[in-house]
Parts: sequence; structure tokens; C-alpha cells
Amino acid sequence: MSRFLNVLMLAVLVAAPAAAGQLGLGREAAPDEIAAWDIDIRPDGAGLPEGSGTVTDGEEVFVERCAICHGDFGEGRDRWPVLAGGEGSLTADRPEKTIGSYWPYLSTVWDYVHRAMPFGDAQSLTDDEVYAITAYILYLNDLVDEEFELSRANFAEVRLPNEENFFDDPRPDTPLAAEAPLCMSDCKDEVKITMRAAVLDVTPEDGSNPTGAVVVETGTEPVAEAQSALDPALAEAGAKVYKKCKGCHQVGEGVKNRAGPHLNGVLGRTAGSLDGFRYSKAMTAKGAEGLVWTAETLNAFLEKPKSFVPKTKMSFKGLKSADDRAAIAAYLSQFTE
Ligand code: HEC
Ligand code: HEC
Repeated sequence: MSRFLNVLMLAVLVAAPAAAGQLGLGREAAPDEIAAWDIDIRPDGAGLPEGSGTVTDGEEVFVERCAICHGDFGEGRDRWPVLAGGEGSLTADRPEKTIGSYWPYLSTVWDYVHRAMPFGDAQSLTDDEVYAITAYILYLNDLVDEEFELSRANFAEVRLPNEENFFDDPRPDTPLAAEAPLCMSDCKDEVKITMRAAVLDVTPEDGSNPTGAVVVETGTEPVAEAQSALDPALAEAGAKVYKKCKGCHQVGEGVKNRAGPHLNGVLGRTAGSLDGFRYSKAMTAKGAEGLVWTAETLNAFLEKPKSFVPKTKMSFKGLKSADDRAAIAAYLSQFTE
């Protein structure tokens, strides 16, 4: 932050008068305007204003202004961030990163609260209130007792437990970030999208089918029929294969078209015929020629989508395995219009 700010200020100080002179634009930043930007606090306390606050005062302000989200004791309400606890959890499967367990410097706490909190009403706290709240957060993390008063004078004496785990990478062959040559243009010959999060299955599901389990609509005749003819093991295998499709295609209750058309009732559907989905010209042309999706045509399409329907906009490389193609057809056959 501070480096960025210096550059910014330099730009303001150096460029502004020149620009004003040559182009008649802008004006020099006033000292109080620069001061309003220049609020970063360094680990050694540089940048702190005069002031102080006690744990007890901090508790009062915290309960009033912060507890609604962070809890009275920094335990975090609902899904708002936790501010206390988590000691010794950093190497656990689910580390709890709080100010006490993880943050290296108290200056970051002061800076963050002063700059950004309370959420939605940032920079409404006085400096003394920020000292007091910071003292209270230390207290919540068992780092000071309730008599404690934090001030500019004793600020640098307070150390957070995890400070020493933040250090420059000591490996001799690893340049420090500041020394490494920076690439500023054309750093990569070509940038290619090789996978989409939705297709990789890292996007949370919409809730209609959270387990990826087979969804069978009950109560309508055709489904019952299809189901009776269905090989359950094959359909189950198909449910797994469908994970590769579901980023773009929905099936089941309340379907919507996504990147691809929904696939309810796709077996028996004329290609490219779903109302409300913008197919490629290639796909609608195939439909006009009479292509209907059946186990056979689907098999051929999914083997090599771009060969079976040249210029289709389905960017999917296909399913190599014939078993997978048979399984997905069985799976899809369960979903009727
Ligand atoms: C309306 C809810 C809300 C209120 C009120 C609120 N905060 Fe926050 N706080 C948040 C959210 C949301 C974040 C995470 C912001 C982000 O990550 O960009 C956060 C983050 C923080 C963090 C950093 C936590 C971490 O581990 O990253 C601190 C410290 C903090 N708040 C302190 C306070 C203090 C002190 C107050 C009262 C003066 C306060 N907050 C009031 C919602 C709130
Ligand atoms: C990256 C997104 C994406 C993935 C993944 C994907 N599809 Fe598609 N699919 C599309 C798009 C887009 C279309 C429309 C193609 C067009 O108009 O050319 C389409 C069209 C189809 C059609 C034709 C439907 C119709 O109404 O004519 C079928 C059938 C189909 N996909 C099945 C599948 C199956 C099965 C899978 C998984 C094995 C799959 N797709 C994976 C995007 C995708």
C-alpha cells in the first residue's frame, strides 16, 4: 500500500503542475487531501495518530458497532468473519485464521478497522475508538488483560503470536519479489482458456440436485415407463458422466437453459428445436434436415461433436468411451419434457 501511495503522490506532485501548466487541467493536491489518502500504518507503528483507548472502552464500541456481524466476542455471527480464537489451528485441515492465530502485525488491525470498518460505514470511528477496539480485539484473543490500554506510545511493544511465521523466502535461488525482474508486457505468447470452472465441477450446484444423484421425476406416466425399461446400473454410471455436461446443461425439475439447452426430453427432440435457446445455425440446420436425438445420433454426436455437427457452438471435446456414451443416453432417457 505505502509504496503504491508514494508513487501516487509522486504522480500528483510531479505531474499535476506540469499538466496544469501545459493543458490547463487539474490542480495541485492540497496537503489535507493527500493526508486523507495517506492513512496506512506500518508494522513499526509509523503513521499512527496520537491517541489511546482501553479494553473496556473498546468493548462498548465493539458491542455497539461491530458485534452484530462479528459477535460480542469476535466469534463471528452467521458467516461474517471470526476475529478471535483459532490458536494452533493453522496446520489443521480447517485452519481458523483470526487476528490472534494468523495475522502478523497489530498495525494491520488498526489500519483495517480504521480504513474499512464498520462494514458499510467505513471511517466513521474516531482514532481513540480505533485504539480502544484494537485493544478489545487483543483482549478477545487473550493477548492482554482487561486493564490494558493501547496507545501510540506502547503500540509497537505489542506483538501478535504468528509474526515470526511471516518472513522472506530464505531459499537462495528464489529472488525476493522486490528483486525479481518484472514482466510488464506480452508476458505469455498466447493465453488459452482450457477449462471452465463450471465444467470442472467446482461451481456449487443450484440445489435442485445437490448430490449429483439420479433425479427421477415421479408421478408422470412417461417417466415411470422409461424407468421400467432402464438399466439402473447404467443410468447410475450415466449420472457420473453427466457431471461433464451439467456445467452447460440442466436436467430435472425447474430446468433452465444455461450455456447449453436443457436436456429434459432430449431423446426424441429434433436437433436445435428448443424454444428460447439460441442454437448455432449449424444445429438448427441439422434439425431442419431431420436430425432427431436418439440413443444412436446422440452417441455419434457425443463421440465427436464438431465432426457430427460441424460448427456447432457446443465447446465440448466429446466422450471417448462408448460405455460413457451409452451410460449418458440411459441417464438422459429418464428426463422427459
Ligand atoms: C455489517 C457487518 C459488519 C460490521 C457491522 C462490521 N464488520 Fe468487520 N467485516 C465485515 C466483513 C464482511 C468483513 C470481510 C470484508 C472483506 O473480506 O472484504 C469484515 C472484516 C473485518 C476484519 C478483518 C477480518 C479478517 O480476518 O479478514 C476486521 C478486523 C473487522 N472486520 C473488524 C470490524 C470492527 C472492529 C467493526 C466495528 C467497528 C466491524 N468489523 C464491523 C462485516 C462487518
Ligand atoms: C461447455 C458447454 C457444454 C458442455 C460441457 C456440453 N454441452 Fe451440449 N451443448 C452445448 C451448447 C452450447 C449446445 C448448443 C449447440 C449448438 O447450438 O450448436 C449444446 C447442444 C447439445 C445437444 C443438442 C440439444 C438440442 O436441443 O439440439 C445435446 C444432445 C447435448 N448438447 C448433449 C450434451 C451432453 C450429453 C454433454 C455431456 C456429455 C454435453 N452436451 C456437454 C454446450 C455444452
